[in-house]
Amino acid sequence: MCGIVGYIGSREAYPILVKGLKRLEYRGYDSAGVALISNADQQLNVYKAKGKVSELESFVESKDISGKIGIAHTRWATHGEPCSANAHPHYSSSETLALIHNGIIENYAVLKENLQAKGYEFKSSTDTEVLVQLIEYIKVTNNLDLLTAVQLALQEVIGAYAIAVVEKDHPEQIIAARKSSPLVVGIGEDEYFLASDATPIVEYTDKVVYLNDEEIAVINRGEELKIVDLHNVEITPDVKTVVMNIGQLEKGGYPHFMLKEIFEQPDCILDCMRGRVNVEGTNVVLSAVIDHKERLIKAKRFVIVACGTSWHAALIGKHLIESFCRIPVEVEYASEFRYRDPVIDEQDVVLAISQSGETADTLAAVELAKSRGAFIYGICNAIGSSIPRATNTGSYIHVGPEIGVASTKAFTGQVTVLTMLALTLAKEKNTISEKEYLEIVQELNHIPEKMKQVLELNKQIAELSKIFTYAHNFIYLGRGYSYPVALEGALKLKEISYIHAEGYPAAEMKHGPIALIDAEMPVVVIATHNGLYEKVLSNIQEIKARKGKVIAIVSEGDTIIKNIADICIELPTTLECLDPLITTVPLQMLAYHIAVCKGMDVDQPRNLAKSVTVE
Ligand code: M6R
Repeated sequence: MCGIVGYIGSREAYPILVKGLKRLEYRGYDSAGVALISNADQQLNVYKAKGKVSELESFVESKDISGKIGIAHTRWATHGEPCSANAHPHYSSSETLALIHNGIIENYAVLKENLQAKGYEFKSSTDTEVLVQLIEYIKVTNNLDLLTAVQLALQEVIGAYAIAVVEKDHPEQIIAARKSSPLVVGIGEDEYFLASDATPIVEYTDKVVYLNDEEIAVINRGEELKIVDLHNVEITPDVKTVVMNIGQLEKGGYPHFMLKEIFEQPDCILDCMRGRVNVEGTNVVLSAVIDHKERLIKAKRFVIVACGTSWHAALIGKHLIESFCRIPVEVEYASEFRYRDPVIDEQDVVLAISQSGETADTLAAVELAKSRGAFIYGICNAIGSSIPRATNTGSYIHVGPEIGVASTKAFTGQVTVLTMLALTLAKEKNTISEKEYLEIVQELNHIPEKMKQVLELNKQIAELSKIFTYAHNFIYLGRGYSYPVALEGALKLKEISYIHAEGYPAAEMKHGPIALIDAEMPVVVIATHNGLYEKVLSNIQEIKARKGKVIAIVSEGDTIIKNIADICIELPTTLECLDPLITTVPLQMLAYHIAVCKGMDVDQPRNLAKSVTVE
């Protein structure tokens, strides 16, 4: 949460910073701000506005936005309401330092009290302002340079931070540091970039350094990048090359990133399988599984840790791994796992699933499991992010940058990797018959084509969505592999349309939720020909008997449910274990179109941020 950008070089910084902020707006959009050291008179100008980056652009219209050095921030509020005073950058008292921050300074209250006792005054209710004041206090009282003051201040801080600081009298330098919040330095020709992820950097350079915890980047104009730790020990920068297509960061003619990402899914699945499933479509190899097969095979159990949509993918992973590999699997919310003193040891394998690779709770769960000796396998999307760097091994899902706050293509990518993981391991363990293995691998190859057929239903789903804008509640039901899909469909709807929605295992309905059913209640039921079709059919009858409105997701050619349900969405058939890759897509489209009909901000829903790097 919160996106940070920085620039130093020979170009004007403002356009680069604002463009960068727009790329990072998915991380938060409560307020935005920029600090620039002006060209003519070397003023440290800070401009801030409540709301999106576009509000900042309007605010600075008649201001001096010159400067070849600057830092900028887009905020997701933690401490202090979204308003201009709480927006970053924050000045120090003398207004000679400006700082941006992503993370939480947990001991800010104590630090603030100490500084107040020394006469410091605060203009915001943020934890961040405390840090910039602390740096100034240490710098001034001990007559230190900025780097040393930052190092000493960070030694007093408890919490998470990615920060960047500029100093009015030193327009040739940015100091940046990270702990538990991501930070990337881009190395150009005589210029440097700084950002929370590589997306604001890739159009200028493909050379990046991902900072590690407690590393400080000393970025001086015209000099080599220097990295030191909090005690000034120098660290050799590990320069990586990022490969990212700029087109992936644009809407490409779609009205929203979410719709674009829904439609990208057939190609994403192909990218995800590329080099892993052979051209004949008869064999799947996930190299990380093969490389660590001894360790994985001897695991007493697998524990999957994740949050949100990734947690739903984990539930599907449990089905796949238990069915095909005969290994017991537990699925945990990372946020619960990390504080529960879980029973976990070196005989366990922990799978960490995260699109962003930065989710604070999932990262903490990984660290905890690692400290107990478990083997950690990451399934992430963002290349070079914190979770893949903290794991023993892993597999990227390779679906490209996901910008829409509501996760879509990452979910189907995660399920695809989990399917390939289960198949690769099952083959190594000999827990799957050759016939079944071949049948699944061959069908996996047909999924992109079948997804395309589902996407053709977009118009039909857009039309039927208009009927449901009245609804205040929705229920989603599914069984077996379709239960996590029901959860995911409900999450998609609530996060972008603000309609309350619950996902349930269909058979659980009669244990309580059935009391909610009346003529006003839309119930989405995943009722494909796989699994417990007859049982789900009975559940539909129970809903209809209470006048609920049934939207049934059925297999092509279904005649029985067509006669009972109010609306049927017909999907191409596939194998039961691959059903989620098909049935999730219409639920994504349904949520999208209902939200659009209601006039909601689909890509940037209220209160949310894409990457949850705070607890
Ligand atoms: O980046 P991660 O996969 O770790 O993110 C986990 C959740 O924050 C994320 O899935 C969230 O629930 C999405 N908004 C769902 O659409």
